[in-house]
Amino acid sequence: MWIEMTLNGKPVAVEAPPDISLLDLLRDYLNLTGTKEGCAVGECGACAVIMDGRLVNSCMVLAPQAHGSEVITIEGVHGPDGGPNDLQQNFIEYGAVQCGICIPGMIMAGEALLMHNPNPSRQEIRMGLAGNLCRCTGYQQIVDAIEATAKGRQKG
Ligand code: FES
Ligand code: FES
Repeated sequence: MWIEMTLNGKPVAVEAPPDISLLDLLRDYLNLTGTKEGCAVGECGACAVIMDGRLVNSCMVLAPQAHGSEVITIEGVHGPDGGPNDLQQNFIEYGAVQCGICIPGMIMAGEALLMHNPNPSRQEIRMGLAGNLCRCTGYQQIVDAIEATAKGRQKG
């Protein structure tokens, strides 16, 4: 079937089987491999993308459910010059990245949180990351990076 959506701000149409996940559609049919597969059963958040303004685990979304929607993946998150945006830069500066497998999902969770709550408390940041597992960092630096980004965006 044909699936049409707005992907990272651009219209796309792709032919794919109706029984695959949005994660597989992105990675295998659209070549957007920044979105990672961790557990494939909705528990780790490595595959998180923003769909119609909501953070979703793309392994748990059937590709046809994305038809007509607006999807943002990690490839759609960047600064004006195409390099890292402020959140990604803060992940680097606060040492929030180790092996990296969770990071695209963490960035998407951070962006989704800041979209809905531009000035979150540390507790709210932790709640915003509740669906995203990281085996490496202990989360502290990730929370620090999101908090610093929120403060930076408040200042404008
Ligand atoms: S790969 Fe989707 S939640 Fe783990
Ligand atoms: S940096 Fe390795 S799982 Fe998060």
